Amino acid sequence: MTEVCKIQPGGRPVPEPTDSPSPGPVIVRYLTGTEDDRLFAGRMMVEAFERKLVHATSRGSLPDMRDSYANSLRERPPEFYERHLLAEYNGEKAGSCVLRYHGDSELFQDREEDMAPVGCTDFCGLELLNKSRKEGIPTGTCSINHLAVDSCFRRKGIGKILLNTAEKDALRHGCSVMDLWVASNNKARLFFEGQGYMVLETDTGCCCGLWCMTGVWRLNRMEKKLS
Ligand SMILES: CC(C)(COP(=O)(O)OP(=O)(O)OC[C@H]1O[C@@H](n2cnc3c(N)ncnc32)[C@H](O)[C@@H]1OP(=O)(O)O)[C@@H](O)C(=O)NCCC(=O)NCCS
Repeated sequence: MTEVCKIQPGGRPVPEPTDSPSPGPVIVRYLTGTEDDRLFAGRMMVEAFERKLVHATSRGSLPDMRDSYANSLRERPPEFYERHLLAEYNGEKAGSCVLRYHGDSELFQDREEDMAPVGCTDFCGLELLNKSRKEGIPTGTCSINHLAVDSCFRRKGIGKILLNTAEKDALRHGCSVMDLWVASNNKARLFFEGQGYMVLETDTGCCCGLWCMTGVWRLNRMEKKLS
């Protein structure tokens, strides 16, 4: 069983609960604005949304998607970086989890200059994908935008540690509910079920609307009550 180390080099430390376990190979810290951190976060975003991004654009556009996401993480206020948890395994960046709270979409707006340099077709694909974004997070809910572990580091307990840290962050923000949307055929659903999340809602869109926008036929909203 992997444990969380209390020492967190680089980036601001995630506050530790007093009952946290003894040091281990995994540490969780906040993202920083350095190029290295931003590119890693961009790669993790692509890992989490690969299928949707390929549907919206093409596999060849994935490096541009990573870079444009990395750009969107530049020069942001401190609270913005506190929405991005980054896990390191024996000093190597291994996974990330991005959180959203009520009011964040107004607080941290998309910037035109961060957009990927894509052609007209890909632009339309990305606009459609954006339309499928679930907005309006209720007060008291923390929404997981995405959680991804680098494929080289999976099944070592890193996803679980990131999720536990995210849940503690949500509690510190006064939230009692954690939620996320995941494609119903994504194996990650089993991971979340194992961590106490339940499917409470299924979105199939209208006709083939959801498929056109996302390349997914069914999205599940999963939720966990925090205590
Ligand atoms: C889902 C994901 C984050 C899990 O990360 P991970 O570090 O491999 O998970 P862990 O090692 O912490 O696994 C925790 C538990 O979940 C189980 N689990 C992990 N991945 C699983 C999978 N694909 N299918 C079934 N169970 C899984 C593990 O067996 C483990 O069970 P245990 O506690 O009984 O041993 C990772 O597979 C991933 O990044 N997937 C791609 C991105 C993605 O789809 N994200 C979700 C949508 S935002």
